[in-house]
Amino acid sequence: MTDLPLGIDFGGTGIKGAPVDLDAGAFAADRAKIATPRPATPEAVAAVFRELVSRFPVSTSPVGVTVPAVVHHGVVGSAANIDDSWIGTDADAVFTEALGREVHVVNDADAAGLAEVEYGAARGHRGLVIVTTLGTGIGSALIHDHVLVPNSELGHLEVEGHNAESRAANSAREAEDLSWEEWAGRLTTYYRTVERLFSPELIVVGGGVSKSWDKFGPLIDIGTEIVPATLQNKAGIIGAALVATRAATEA
Ligand code: BGC
Repeated sequence: MTDLPLGIDFGGTGIKGAPVDLDAGAFAADRAKIATPRPATPEAVAAVFRELVSRFPVSTSPVGVTVPAVVHHGVVGSAANIDDSWIGTDADAVFTEALGREVHVVNDADAAGLAEVEYGAARGHRGLVIVTTLGTGIGSALIHDHVLVPNSELGHLEVEGHNAESRAANSAREAEDLSWEEWAGRLTTYYRTVERLFSPELIVVGGGVSKSWDKFGPLIDIGTEIVPATLQNKAGIIGAALVATRAATEA
């Protein structure tokens, strides 16, 4: 597996990575996980990445990293749920330097969305697919005929006067102890706004809570076809490895 790209998922509690077989859209070895340092500054995170990468056989293939933030050409542009010190950081440069290996950073939902379109729930779908991740925040990926429009940030749409993710993310369900029915009502309001603005052909719902799809998914009452993600917590890692490989090939 010496020539496989590595995907790293940088989350609020854990940093997880695995080598990815891009033909199969699957991990080529068991995932490794290390707790996210606190505070999760770029330097502290880079040290964890070094440790994580050292757990896999040496390779020269690129590394893809998800971050829960806007990313422009490797530079982080927002920090809704991460340490503010990320804003303005050229994460591609910091991590490439730290790992001695080409690194490309991508928004977490964009990575998961690409993976779902290439290998998961939206495989084979043409037209506009919107992949959303319901977690601490709401992430979104806007993909048209396999082409990603990055940094769509639809979790921050204003819905009924609120930042949508503050009402409809899985963290809001937990914090407010909402029933599945109540939460599905909020998701209906949210997704109706999304479908009114973008007219997608398919909406995919990811994030850890999509495991419980049967409890809330069928209660979301919208006109657009809406389905659960199928790659679960592998989507970010697989998508990041895909993005890094494409970026390296294009360079
Ligand atoms: C961030 C997005 C991210 C999403 C999911 C939002 O708060 O603004 O960049 O994709 O959370 O982590």
